[in-house]
Amino acid sequence: MWKYGAVVFLVAISFKLLLDHEFPRKPPKFEKDDYFGEGAVHADDETIHDFSISIDPSQLEDLKERVRMGRQRLQAPLEGSNFEFGFNTAYLKNLTETWLKYDWKQHEYFLNTFQHYRTELEGLLLHFTRTSFSPKKNEKKLPIILIHGYPSSFWDFYKVIPILANPGRFGFDFGGKGQIVFDVVVPSIPGFAWSEGPSKQGFGFIECARVYSKLMERLGHKKYFVFGMGDLGVEIATALAHISPDSVWGLQVANPYISPLQDAQVFAESVLTFLAPNLYLDEREQEVILPLDRQISSFLDHFGFFMIQKTRPDSLSVAVNDSPLGLASWLLDRFALGIHRNYTSHPQGWLQNSLTVDELLTEVHIYWLTGTLPHAARFFRNSYEHPLYRETMRASLNISTAVLVLPSTSYTSPRHTLSRRYTNLVRYTIGGKGGDFPALQESRFVAQEIFSFVEELTS
Ligand SMILES: *[C@@H]1O[C@H](CO)[C@@H](O)[C@H](O)[C@H]1NC(C)=O
Ligand SMILES: *[C@@H]1O[C@H](CO)[C@@H](O)[C@H](O)[C@H]1NC(C)=O
Ligand SMILES: *[C@@H]1O[C@H](CO)[C@@H](O)[C@H](O)[C@H]1NC(C)=O
Repeated sequence: MWKYGAVVFLVAISFKLLLDHEFPRKPPKFEKDDYFGEGAVHADDETIHDFSISIDPSQLEDLKERVRMGRQRLQAPLEGSNFEFGFNTAYLKNLTETWLKYDWKQHEYFLNTFQHYRTELEGLLLHFTRTSFSPKKNEKKLPIILIHGYPSSFWDFYKVIPILANPGRFGFDFGGKGQIVFDVVVPSIPGFAWSEGPSKQGFGFIECARVYSKLMERLGHKKYFVFGMGDLGVEIATALAHISPDSVWGLQVANPYISPLQDAQVFAESVLTFLAPNLYLDEREQEVILPLDRQISSFLDHFGFFMIQKTRPDSLSVAVNDSPLGLASWLLDRFALGIHRNYTSHPQGWLQNSLTVDELLTEVHIYWLTGTLPHAARFFRNSYEHPLYRETMRASLNISTAVLVLPSTSYTSPRHTLSRRYTNLVRYTIGGKGGDFPALQESRFVAQEIFSFVEELTS
Protein backbone atom coordinates (compact mmCIF):
# COMPACT_ATOMS: atom_id res chain seq x y z
CA MET A 1 0.00 0.00 0.00
CA TRP A 2 2.78 2.48 0.93
CA LYS A 3 4.37 1.72 -2.45
CA TYR A 4 1.20 2.83 -4.20
CA GLY A 5 1.17 5.99 -2.08
CA ALA A 6 4.80 6.72 -2.93
CA VAL A 7 4.15 6.32 -6.65
CA VAL A 8 1.16 8.65 -6.50
CA PHE A 9 3.25 11.15 -4.54
CA LEU A 10 6.12 11.05 -7.04
CA VAL A 11 3.77 11.35 -9.99
CA ALA A 12 2.04 14.30 -8.35
CA ILE A 13 5.38 16.05 -7.73
CA SER A 14 6.57 15.51 -11.27
CA PHE A 15 3.24 16.76 -12.65
CA LYS A 16 3.54 19.85 -10.49
CA LEU A 17 7.08 20.54 -11.74
CA LEU A 18 5.99 19.94 -15.32
CA LEU A 19 3.00 22.22 -15.05
CA ASP A 20 4.92 25.07 -13.43
CA HIS A 21 7.64 24.90 -16.01
CA GLU A 22 7.47 27.61 -18.68
CA PHE A 23 7.40 25.84 -22.02
CA PRO A 24 8.52 27.87 -25.00
CA ARG A 25 5.38 28.31 -27.07
CA LYS A 26 6.59 30.48 -29.90
CA PRO A 27 4.69 30.37 -33.17
CA PRO A 28 6.59 28.87 -36.10
CA LYS A 29 7.77 30.94 -39.04
CA PHE A 30 4.94 30.94 -41.55
CA GLU A 31 5.53 31.33 -45.29
CA LYS A 32 4.44 34.74 -46.54
CA ASP A 33 3.17 33.60 -49.90
CA ASP A 34 2.51 30.54 -52.02
CA TYR A 35 0.56 29.47 -55.08
CA PHE A 36 -2.16 26.82 -55.26
CA GLY A 37 -3.75 27.45 -58.65
CA GLU A 38 -3.49 25.21 -61.66
CA GLY A 39 -0.22 25.02 -63.58
CA ALA A 40 2.56 27.60 -63.47
CA VAL A 41 2.73 30.40 -60.93
CA HIS A 42 1.33 33.74 -62.04
CA ALA A 43 0.56 36.98 -60.23
CA ASP A 44 -2.96 37.29 -58.82
CA ASP A 45 -5.51 39.38 -60.66
CA GLU A 46 -6.62 41.59 -57.77
CA THR A 47 -10.00 42.54 -59.23
CA ILE A 48 -12.96 41.91 -56.96
CA HIS A 49 -15.73 40.51 -59.13
CA ASP A 50 -19.42 40.58 -58.28
CA PHE A 51 -20.71 37.05 -58.15
CA SER A 52 -24.10 35.46 -57.98
CA ILE A 53 -25.08 31.84 -57.55
CA SER A 54 -26.68 30.27 -60.58
CA ILE A 55 -27.03 26.51 -60.83
CA ASP A 56 -27.88 24.98 -64.14
CA PRO A 57 -31.35 23.33 -64.08
CA SER A 58 -29.90 20.16 -65.64
CA GLN A 59 -27.68 19.74 -62.58
CA LEU A 60 -30.77 19.93 -60.35
CA GLU A 61 -32.63 17.37 -62.47
CA ASP A 62 -29.62 15.05 -62.27
CA LEU A 63 -29.55 15.45 -58.49
CA LYS A 64 -33.25 14.57 -58.07
CA GLU A 65 -32.84 11.57 -60.33
CA ARG A 66 -29.94 10.32 -58.22
CA VAL A 67 -31.99 10.82 -55.05
CA ARG A 68 -34.87 8.82 -56.57
CA MET A 69 -32.50 6.03 -57.60
CA GLY A 70 -30.55 6.10 -54.35
CA ARG A 71 -33.56 5.69 -52.11
CA GLN A 72 -34.40 2.41 -53.85
CA ARG A 73 -31.02 1.04 -52.91
CA LEU A 74 -31.05 1.98 -49.23
CA GLN A 75 -30.48 -0.93 -46.90
CA ALA A 76 -32.99 -0.95 -44.04
CA PRO A 77 -31.42 -0.39 -40.61
CA LEU A 78 -30.99 -3.35 -38.29
CA GLU A 79 -34.06 -3.89 -36.17
CA GLY A 80 -34.14 -1.63 -33.16
CA SER A 81 -31.11 0.40 -34.21
CA ASN A 82 -30.98 4.17 -34.51
CA PHE A 83 -27.63 5.85 -35.19
CA GLU A 84 -25.41 3.18 -33.61
CA PHE A 85 -24.25 1.91 -36.98
CA GLY A 86 -24.05 5.29 -38.64
CA PHE A 87 -26.73 7.40 -40.23
CA ASN A 88 -30.15 5.78 -39.76
CA THR A 89 -31.25 4.81 -43.27
CA ALA A 90 -34.94 4.78 -42.31
CA TYR A 91 -34.61 8.41 -41.36
CA LEU A 92 -32.64 9.09 -44.52
CA LYS A 93 -35.46 7.56 -46.54
CA ASN A 94 -37.89 9.90 -44.81
CA LEU A 95 -35.63 12.84 -45.58
CA THR A 96 -35.63 12.01 -49.28
CA GLU A 97 -39.37 12.68 -49.39
CA THR A 98 -38.79 16.26 -48.32
CA TRP A 99 -35.70 16.37 -50.49
CA LEU A 100 -37.62 15.51 -53.66
CA LYS A 101 -39.87 18.52 -52.95
CA TYR A 102 -36.97 20.84 -52.10
CA ASP A 103 -36.89 23.86 -54.38
CA TRP A 104 -33.27 24.89 -54.89
CA LYS A 105 -34.13 27.89 -57.06
CA GLN A 106 -36.08 29.44 -54.20
CA HIS A 107 -33.08 28.96 -51.91
CA GLU A 108 -30.72 30.27 -54.55
CA TYR A 109 -32.84 33.40 -54.75
CA PHE A 110 -32.54 33.81 -50.99
CA LEU A 111 -28.77 33.17 -50.97
CA ASN A 112 -28.37 35.80 -53.67
CA THR A 113 -29.94 38.41 -51.41
CA PHE A 114 -26.46 38.48 -49.82
CA GLN A 115 -23.76 40.30 -51.81
CA HIS A 116 -21.34 37.71 -53.18
CA TYR A 117 -17.90 38.34 -54.64
CA ARG A 118 -14.86 36.45 -55.91
CA THR A 119 -11.27 37.55 -56.10
CA GLU A 120 -8.02 35.76 -56.88
CA LEU A 121 -5.65 34.91 -54.02
CA GLU A 122 -2.61 32.65 -54.35
CA GLY A 123 -3.97 31.50 -57.70
CA LEU A 124 -7.46 30.62 -56.41
CA LEU A 125 -10.74 32.44 -56.92
CA LEU A 126 -11.96 32.99 -53.39
CA HIS A 127 -15.71 33.34 -52.81
CA PHE A 128 -17.01 35.55 -50.03
CA THR A 129 -20.06 37.50 -48.99
CA ARG A 130 -19.85 41.01 -47.68
CA THR A 131 -22.72 42.63 -45.85
CA SER A 132 -22.51 46.21 -44.82
CA PHE A 133 -24.85 49.17 -44.73
CA SER A 134 -23.79 52.80 -44.80
CA PRO A 135 -23.61 53.75 -41.14
CA LYS A 136 -26.24 56.07 -39.72
CA LYS A 137 -25.31 58.96 -37.47
CA ASN A 138 -24.17 57.64 -34.11
CA GLU A 139 -23.15 54.27 -35.54
CA LYS A 140 -19.63 52.92 -35.37
CA LYS A 141 -18.91 50.43 -38.15
CA LEU A 142 -16.23 47.79 -37.52
CA PRO A 143 -15.01 45.02 -39.81
CA ILE A 144 -15.40 41.39 -38.82
CA ILE A 145 -14.58 38.14 -40.61
CA LEU A 146 -16.69 35.07 -39.80
CA ILE A 147 -14.90 31.78 -40.41
CA HIS A 148 -16.64 28.46 -40.94
CA GLY A 149 -15.14 24.98 -40.74
CA TYR A 150 -16.37 21.47 -41.50
CA PRO A 151 -19.11 20.21 -42.09
CA SER A 152 -20.23 23.76 -42.64
CA SER A 153 -20.16 26.59 -45.14
CA PHE A 154 -20.97 30.29 -45.28
CA TRP A 155 -24.60 29.13 -45.04
CA ASP A 156 -24.11 28.56 -41.28
CA PHE A 157 -23.98 32.32 -40.80
CA TYR A 158 -27.14 33.27 -42.67
CA LYS A 159 -28.95 34.22 -39.47
CA VAL A 160 -26.01 35.93 -37.75
CA ILE A 161 -24.93 38.15 -40.64
CA PRO A 162 -28.07 40.33 -40.72
CA ILE A 163 -27.94 40.87 -36.96
CA LEU A 164 -24.29 41.94 -37.02
CA ALA A 165 -24.76 44.25 -40.00
CA ASN A 166 -28.00 45.82 -38.84
CA PRO A 167 -28.42 45.15 -35.11
CA GLY A 168 -31.01 47.87 -34.50
CA ARG A 169 -33.52 45.98 -36.59
CA PHE A 170 -33.16 42.97 -34.30
CA GLY A 171 -33.37 44.91 -31.06
CA PHE A 172 -29.65 44.86 -30.32
CA ASP A 173 -28.07 47.90 -28.78
CA PHE A 174 -24.36 47.71 -28.00
CA GLY A 175 -21.64 50.34 -27.91
CA GLY A 176 -21.23 52.97 -25.22
CA LYS A 177 -20.33 55.74 -27.64
CA GLY A 178 -22.53 54.95 -30.58
CA GLN A 179 -24.15 51.75 -31.73
CA ILE A 180 -21.69 49.13 -32.98
CA VAL A 181 -22.51 47.77 -36.43
CA PHE A 182 -20.36 45.45 -38.52
CA ASP A 183 -19.04 45.23 -42.02
CA VAL A 184 -19.37 41.44 -42.22
CA VAL A 185 -17.07 39.39 -44.45
CA VAL A 186 -17.74 35.64 -44.77
CA PRO A 187 -15.32 33.76 -47.03
CA SER A 188 -15.64 30.15 -48.19
CA ILE A 189 -12.60 27.95 -47.57
CA PRO A 190 -10.94 27.23 -50.96
CA GLY A 191 -12.67 24.16 -52.35
CA PHE A 192 -15.83 24.82 -50.29
CA ALA A 193 -18.97 26.22 -51.93
CA TRP A 194 -18.05 28.70 -54.67
CA SER A 195 -14.37 29.12 -53.75
CA GLU A 196 -12.09 27.47 -56.23
CA GLY A 197 -10.31 24.38 -54.87
CA PRO A 198 -6.52 24.12 -54.67
CA SER A 199 -4.73 22.21 -57.43
CA LYS A 200 -1.54 21.84 -55.43
CA GLN A 201 -0.84 19.88 -52.27
CA GLY A 202 -0.46 21.43 -48.86
CA PHE A 203 -3.40 23.82 -48.57
CA GLY A 204 -4.51 23.50 -44.94
CA PHE A 205 -5.77 25.83 -42.23
CA ILE A 206 -2.51 27.80 -42.07
CA GLU A 207 -2.57 28.59 -45.79
CA CYS A 208 -6.27 29.38 -45.55
CA ALA A 209 -5.57 31.84 -42.73
CA ARG A 210 -2.93 33.57 -44.83
CA VAL A 211 -5.32 33.83 -47.78
CA TYR A 212 -7.99 35.32 -45.49
CA SER A 213 -5.53 37.88 -44.11
CA LYS A 214 -4.74 38.91 -47.70
CA LEU A 215 -8.46 39.13 -48.45
CA MET A 216 -9.05 41.51 -45.54
CA GLU A 217 -6.11 43.60 -46.66
CA ARG A 218 -7.45 43.73 -50.19
CA LEU A 219 -10.79 44.90 -48.84
CA GLY A 220 -8.98 47.75 -47.09
CA HIS A 221 -9.47 46.46 -43.54
CA LYS A 222 -6.40 47.31 -41.47
CA LYS A 223 -7.82 46.29 -38.12
CA TYR A 224 -10.64 43.80 -37.71
CA PHE A 225 -12.33 41.22 -35.53
CA VAL A 226 -12.19 37.50 -36.20
CA PHE A 227 -14.80 34.90 -35.29
CA GLY A 228 -14.16 31.18 -35.94
CA MET A 229 -16.22 28.09 -35.24
CA GLY A 230 -16.00 24.37 -35.94
CA ASP A 231 -12.68 22.59 -35.33
CA LEU A 232 -11.15 23.86 -38.55
CA GLY A 233 -12.77 27.28 -38.33
CA VAL A 234 -11.20 27.76 -34.91
CA GLU A 235 -7.78 26.75 -36.25
CA ILE A 236 -8.04 29.05 -39.27
CA ALA A 237 -9.11 31.94 -37.03
CA THR A 238 -6.27 31.31 -34.55
CA ALA A 239 -3.67 30.98 -37.31
CA LEU A 240 -4.96 34.22 -38.83
CA ALA A 241 -4.25 35.98 -35.55
CA HIS A 242 -0.71 34.51 -35.52
CA ILE A 243 -0.12 35.57 -39.11
CA SER A 244 -1.53 39.10 -38.81
CA PRO A 245 -1.19 40.00 -35.14
CA ASP A 246 -1.27 43.72 -35.86
CA SER A 247 -4.50 43.50 -37.80
CA VAL A 248 -6.51 41.30 -35.49
CA TRP A 249 -8.19 43.51 -32.93
CA GLY A 250 -9.86 40.63 -31.16
CA LEU A 251 -10.25 36.90 -31.73
CA GLN A 252 -13.37 34.98 -30.80
CA VAL A 253 -13.62 31.22 -31.08
CA ALA A 254 -16.43 28.78 -30.38
CA ASN A 255 -15.80 25.44 -28.64
CA PRO A 256 -12.00 25.45 -29.01
CA TYR A 257 -10.23 22.21 -28.19
CA ILE A 258 -6.68 21.30 -27.32
CA SER A 259 -5.93 17.61 -27.55
CA PRO A 260 -4.67 16.11 -24.26
CA LEU A 261 -1.98 14.42 -26.34
CA GLN A 262 -0.67 17.69 -27.68
CA ASP A 263 2.24 17.82 -25.24
CA ALA A 264 3.32 16.53 -21.86
CA GLN A 265 2.08 19.60 -20.06
CA VAL A 266 -1.43 19.51 -21.44
CA PHE A 267 -1.52 15.77 -20.87
CA ALA A 268 -0.49 16.14 -17.23
CA GLU A 269 -3.11 18.81 -16.75
CA SER A 270 -5.80 16.63 -18.35
CA VAL A 271 -4.92 13.72 -16.08
CA LEU A 272 -5.01 15.93 -13.00
CA THR A 273 -8.34 17.38 -14.10
CA PHE A 274 -9.64 13.88 -14.51
CA LEU A 275 -8.46 12.82 -11.05
CA ALA A 276 -9.50 16.00 -9.29
CA PRO A 277 -12.00 17.99 -11.38
CA ASN A 278 -12.31 20.71 -8.74
CA LEU A 279 -8.67 21.62 -9.26
CA TYR A 280 -9.19 23.26 -12.63
CA LEU A 281 -12.90 23.25 -13.45
CA ASP A 282 -15.67 25.39 -12.06
CA GLU A 283 -19.15 23.90 -11.61
CA ARG A 284 -20.43 24.86 -15.03
CA GLU A 285 -17.31 23.50 -16.76
CA GLN A 286 -17.72 20.21 -14.92
CA GLU A 287 -21.13 19.78 -16.57
CA VAL A 288 -19.80 20.53 -20.04
CA ILE A 289 -16.22 19.26 -20.28
CA LEU A 290 -16.04 15.52 -20.79
CA PRO A 291 -13.66 13.72 -18.42
CA LEU A 292 -10.55 12.34 -20.09
CA ASP A 293 -11.76 8.74 -20.32
CA ARG A 294 -15.01 9.80 -21.98
CA GLN A 295 -13.14 12.13 -24.33
CA ILE A 296 -11.08 9.19 -25.47
CA SER A 297 -13.97 6.75 -25.78
CA SER A 298 -16.10 9.33 -27.56
CA PHE A 299 -13.26 9.94 -29.98
CA LEU A 300 -12.79 6.24 -30.67
CA ASP A 301 -16.54 5.63 -31.00
CA HIS A 302 -17.56 8.56 -33.13
CA PHE A 303 -14.67 10.18 -34.92
CA GLY A 304 -14.05 7.62 -37.64
CA PHE A 305 -14.98 10.35 -40.12
CA PHE A 306 -12.01 12.38 -38.87
CA MET A 307 -9.46 9.60 -39.32
CA ILE A 308 -10.78 8.73 -42.78
CA GLN A 309 -10.69 12.34 -43.98
CA LYS A 310 -7.27 12.82 -42.47
CA THR A 311 -5.80 9.68 -44.03
CA ARG A 312 -7.79 8.49 -47.11
CA PRO A 313 -9.72 11.54 -48.34
CA ASP A 314 -9.73 10.72 -52.04
CA SER A 315 -11.02 7.16 -51.62
CA LEU A 316 -13.95 8.43 -49.59
CA SER A 317 -14.67 11.22 -52.03
CA VAL A 318 -15.27 8.95 -55.00
CA ALA A 319 -18.35 7.53 -53.28
CA VAL A 320 -19.79 10.61 -51.59
CA ASN A 321 -19.29 12.77 -54.65
CA ASP A 322 -21.17 10.22 -56.75
CA SER A 323 -24.18 9.67 -54.51
CA PRO A 324 -26.17 12.51 -52.94
CA LEU A 325 -27.56 10.12 -50.32
CA GLY A 326 -24.02 9.01 -49.53
CA LEU A 327 -23.05 12.64 -49.12
CA ALA A 328 -26.11 13.43 -46.99
CA SER A 329 -25.51 10.53 -44.61
CA TRP A 330 -21.78 11.32 -44.27
CA LEU A 331 -22.32 15.03 -43.71
CA LEU A 332 -25.43 14.89 -41.55
CA ASP A 333 -23.98 12.14 -39.40
CA ARG A 334 -21.30 14.67 -38.45
CA PHE A 335 -24.02 17.20 -37.72
CA ALA A 336 -25.76 14.72 -35.41
CA LEU A 337 -22.49 14.10 -33.58
CA GLY A 338 -22.20 17.80 -32.82
CA ILE A 339 -25.79 18.40 -31.80
CA HIS A 340 -26.39 15.88 -29.04
CA ARG A 341 -23.95 13.78 -27.07
CA ASN A 342 -26.38 10.88 -27.01
CA TYR A 343 -27.26 11.08 -30.67
CA THR A 344 -26.69 7.41 -31.44
CA SER A 345 -29.74 6.28 -29.48
CA HIS A 346 -32.22 8.63 -31.16
CA PRO A 347 -33.97 7.57 -34.40
CA GLN A 348 -33.22 10.93 -36.02
CA GLY A 349 -29.90 11.53 -34.28
CA TRP A 350 -31.56 14.55 -32.62
CA LEU A 351 -30.91 16.40 -35.87
CA GLN A 352 -34.24 18.16 -35.81
CA ASN A 353 -33.76 19.15 -32.21
CA SER A 354 -32.35 22.55 -33.07
CA LEU A 355 -31.99 22.67 -36.85
CA THR A 356 -34.67 22.58 -39.50
CA VAL A 357 -34.76 19.98 -42.28
CA ASP A 358 -34.56 22.90 -44.66
CA GLU A 359 -31.31 24.12 -43.08
CA LEU A 360 -29.82 20.64 -43.26
CA LEU A 361 -30.84 20.06 -46.84
CA THR A 362 -29.51 23.45 -47.90
CA GLU A 363 -26.11 22.53 -46.49
CA VAL A 364 -26.23 19.23 -48.35
CA HIS A 365 -27.20 21.02 -51.57
CA ILE A 366 -24.36 23.49 -51.29
CA TYR A 367 -21.89 20.63 -50.78
CA TRP A 368 -23.35 18.59 -53.62
CA LEU A 369 -23.83 21.30 -56.20
CA THR A 370 -20.31 22.66 -55.75
CA GLY A 371 -18.52 19.32 -55.22
CA THR A 372 -17.24 20.50 -51.83
CA LEU A 373 -16.68 17.22 -50.02
CA PRO A 374 -13.59 16.03 -51.90
CA HIS A 375 -11.89 19.34 -51.13
CA ALA A 376 -13.15 19.37 -47.56
CA ALA A 377 -11.76 15.89 -46.97
CA ARG A 378 -8.36 16.81 -48.43
CA PHE A 379 -8.39 19.95 -46.30
CA PHE A 380 -8.32 17.67 -43.25
CA ARG A 381 -5.27 15.85 -44.51
CA ASN A 382 -3.51 19.05 -45.50
CA SER A 383 -4.32 20.61 -42.13
CA TYR A 384 -3.68 17.80 -39.69
CA GLU A 385 -0.65 16.38 -41.49
CA HIS A 386 0.86 19.83 -42.01
CA PRO A 387 4.56 20.07 -41.08
CA LEU A 388 3.80 23.08 -38.86
CA TYR A 389 0.64 21.63 -37.34
CA ARG A 390 2.02 20.74 -33.92
CA GLU A 391 4.02 23.90 -33.47
CA THR A 392 1.05 26.01 -34.47
CA MET A 393 -1.26 24.20 -32.07
CA ARG A 394 1.22 24.67 -29.23
CA ALA A 395 2.06 28.29 -29.92
CA SER A 396 0.68 30.82 -27.50
CA LEU A 397 -1.19 33.81 -28.79
CA ASN A 398 -1.26 37.05 -26.86
CA ILE A 399 -4.18 38.74 -28.59
CA SER A 400 -7.41 39.60 -26.79
CA THR A 401 -9.45 36.44 -27.10
CA ALA A 402 -12.99 35.45 -26.26
CA VAL A 403 -14.19 31.89 -25.99
CA LEU A 404 -17.74 30.78 -26.41
CA VAL A 405 -18.79 27.28 -25.40
CA LEU A 406 -22.11 25.63 -26.17
CA PRO A 407 -22.95 22.87 -23.71
CA SER A 408 -23.66 20.07 -26.22
CA THR A 409 -20.46 20.53 -28.19
CA SER A 410 -18.82 17.22 -29.08
CA TYR A 411 -15.68 18.37 -27.24
CA THR A 412 -13.99 21.44 -25.83
CA SER A 413 -11.15 22.08 -23.40
CA PRO A 414 -11.28 23.72 -19.98
CA ARG A 415 -10.63 27.41 -19.64
CA HIS A 416 -7.46 26.72 -17.73
CA THR A 417 -5.96 24.64 -20.54
CA LEU A 418 -7.12 27.11 -23.17
CA SER A 419 -5.35 29.93 -21.41
CA ARG A 420 -2.01 28.25 -22.13
CA ARG A 421 -2.73 28.79 -25.78
CA TYR A 422 -4.79 31.97 -25.58
CA THR A 423 -2.72 33.85 -23.03
CA ASN A 424 -4.90 36.93 -23.24
CA LEU A 425 -8.25 35.24 -22.66
CA VAL A 426 -10.51 38.11 -21.65
CA ARG A 427 -13.91 36.49 -21.98
CA TYR A 428 -15.11 32.93 -21.45
CA THR A 429 -18.81 32.15 -21.70
CA ILE A 430 -20.66 28.86 -21.51
CA GLY A 431 -24.20 29.37 -22.71
CA GLY A 432 -26.97 28.71 -25.16
CA LYS A 433 -28.44 25.29 -25.84
CA GLY A 434 -26.56 24.12 -28.90
CA GLY A 435 -23.40 22.21 -29.69
CA ASP A 436 -21.01 22.40 -32.62
CA PHE A 437 -23.14 24.70 -34.78
CA PRO A 438 -23.52 27.83 -32.71
CA ALA A 439 -24.35 30.21 -35.56
CA LEU A 440 -27.17 28.00 -36.82
CA GLN A 441 -28.37 26.74 -33.46
CA GLU A 442 -28.06 29.90 -31.36
CA SER A 443 -27.72 32.81 -33.74
CA ARG A 444 -28.93 35.49 -31.32
CA PHE A 445 -26.70 34.26 -28.54
CA VAL A 446 -23.69 34.21 -30.86
CA ALA A 447 -24.44 37.72 -32.08
CA GLN A 448 -24.83 38.91 -28.52
CA GLU A 449 -21.48 37.39 -27.52
CA ILE A 450 -19.79 39.06 -30.47
CA PHE A 451 -21.26 42.45 -29.60
CA SER A 452 -20.37 42.09 -25.92
CA PHE A 453 -16.77 41.15 -26.67
CA VAL A 454 -16.28 43.91 -29.21
CA GLU A 455 -17.90 46.45 -26.92
CA GLU A 456 -15.50 45.39 -24.18
CA LEU A 457 -12.50 45.94 -26.45
CA THR A 458 -13.56 49.17 -28.08
CA SER A 459 -15.19 51.16 -25.30
C1 LIG B 1 -40.29 7.93 -40.98
O1 LIG B 1 -41.59 8.35 -41.34
C2 LIG B 1 -42.62 7.48 -40.87
C3 LIG B 1 -43.93 7.96 -41.47
O2 LIG B 1 -44.12 9.32 -41.28
C4 LIG B 1 -42.62 7.49 -39.36
O3 LIG B 1 -43.60 6.62 -38.86
C5 LIG B 1 -41.27 7.04 -38.86
O4 LIG B 1 -41.19 7.15 -37.45
C6 LIG B 1 -40.15 7.88 -39.48
N1 LIG B 1 -38.87 7.30 -39.08
C7 LIG B 1 -37.81 8.03 -38.78
C8 LIG B 1 -36.61 7.28 -38.35
O5 LIG B 1 -37.80 9.25 -38.86
C1 LIG C 1 -28.89 7.81 -24.07
O1 LIG C 1 -30.17 7.45 -24.52
C2 LIG C 1 -30.57 6.12 -24.13
C3 LIG C 1 -31.90 5.81 -24.78
O2 LIG C 1 -32.78 6.90 -24.75
C4 LIG C 1 -30.63 6.06 -22.62
O3 LIG C 1 -30.96 4.76 -22.23
C5 LIG C 1 -29.24 6.43 -22.05
O4 LIG C 1 -29.31 6.48 -20.65
C6 LIG C 1 -28.81 7.79 -22.58
N1 LIG C 1 -27.45 8.00 -22.14
C7 LIG C 1 -27.02 9.18 -21.68
C8 LIG C 1 -25.60 9.25 -21.29
O5 LIG C 1 -27.76 10.14 -21.60
C1 LIG D 1 0.21 40.03 -23.42
O1 LIG D 1 -0.54 41.20 -23.59
C2 LIG D 1 -0.82 41.88 -22.39
C3 LIG D 1 -1.79 43.01 -22.65
O2 LIG D 1 -1.76 43.46 -23.96
C4 LIG D 1 0.48 42.36 -21.77
O3 LIG D 1 0.22 43.02 -20.57
C5 LIG D 1 1.37 41.14 -21.52
O4 LIG D 1 2.62 41.54 -21.06
C6 LIG D 1 1.56 40.32 -22.79
N1 LIG D 1 2.23 39.08 -22.45
C7 LIG D 1 3.22 38.59 -23.18
C8 LIG D 1 3.76 37.27 -22.74
O5 LIG D 1 3.68 39.17 -24.15
